[in-house]
Amino acid sequence: MSTKEAVLQLLQRAQGDLSGEQLSQQLGLSRAAVWKAVRALRAEGYDIAAGTNRGYRLTAQPDVLTREAVAEALAGHPWAQRVTVCQSVDSTNRMARQMAAQGAPSGTCVIADRQTAGRGRRGRSFYSPPGEGLYMSVVLRPRALPEEIMNLTALVAVGACDAVEAVCGERPGIKWTNDLVLGTKKLAGILTELSIIAETREVEYVVVGIGVNCAQTQFPEDIRDVATSIWLHTGRRAARARLAAALLRAFARLDAQLPGGCAEDMARFRAGCVTLGRRVTILRGDSSREALAEDVAPDGALIVRYDDGTQEHIASGEVSVRGLYGYV
Ligand code: BTN
Repeated sequence: MSTKEAVLQLLQRAQGDLSGEQLSQQLGLSRAAVWKAVRALRAEGYDIAAGTNRGYRLTAQPDVLTREAVAEALAGHPWAQRVTVCQSVDSTNRMARQMAAQGAPSGTCVIADRQTAGRGRRGRSFYSPPGEGLYMSVVLRPRALPEEIMNLTALVAVGACDAVEAVCGERPGIKWTNDLVLGTKKLAGILTELSIIAETREVEYVVVGIGVNCAQTQFPEDIRDVATSIWLHTGRRAARARLAAALLRAFARLDAQLPGGCAEDMARFRAGCVTLGRRVTILRGDSSREALAEDVAPDGALIVRYDDGTQEHIASGEVSVRGLYGYV
């Protein structure tokens, strides 16, 4: 362990302030060496308060996103060995799909600090700046036909809400079918991609991708009015490694229940779905039609009623659903 790591460990474990004298005695180092380590830690983003006659106190830590930090937060979970963390990648979904195509097992997870070509649904891009968001994709291998896992994105959204709530203390709502919202703004998006075995029509693998806005303080103009982050909404920092671990745990629970998921989870999806009871616009190609969002079917389809009294089940992916009075 380096001097810097040793000083950090003592500061992390300390109940109160630690004087330079105490640090140098406990580590068998000179005061100058302690001071040098403190300076190096500050340069890495650790906030270390120091006052005359007071000593040092660690007041804030940088949000480190490394494989080790995620594995530590996963504390012995079998999927901890399957996590890859990259500084920068075009798209974690693209990379996870490539790994799945080469045989990577269920639970293989790609996380990035930054994406240069993050992908959203319907060919859109996903804003993925460094240091501020969590961009992660997980390979699942349910033994199922595609029609048996139609509700997968809905189930993933429920698991993602559980994870965000566990880490930041507030439960997001779900904008049908795959956006997590805090207040009236988008916190996270989910992109589920599927590969099918041509001969048997069975699912070969699924890649579940999720992007969560964690520490953004501002967004580009085109999404400024509709996007939020954990920091902007709650005023609290969420450690991305802890959030990644909580998401992985939720996806592992879900994986064990596929196909179908547990019946309770679709009820939880409906309970958390902020789209229900609202007037929405259904956008299909160039056409748009207003309706009331009435319910969610067991397969995850949105049940809408048009003004002429007719009802339609809308499968995800097929259309875009917009709130009439804003993003939700
Ligand atoms: C959407 O909002 O339309 C879905 C956004 C999904 C974004 C995530 S970020 C991690 C993973 N990699 C991608 O390229 N996309 C997903």
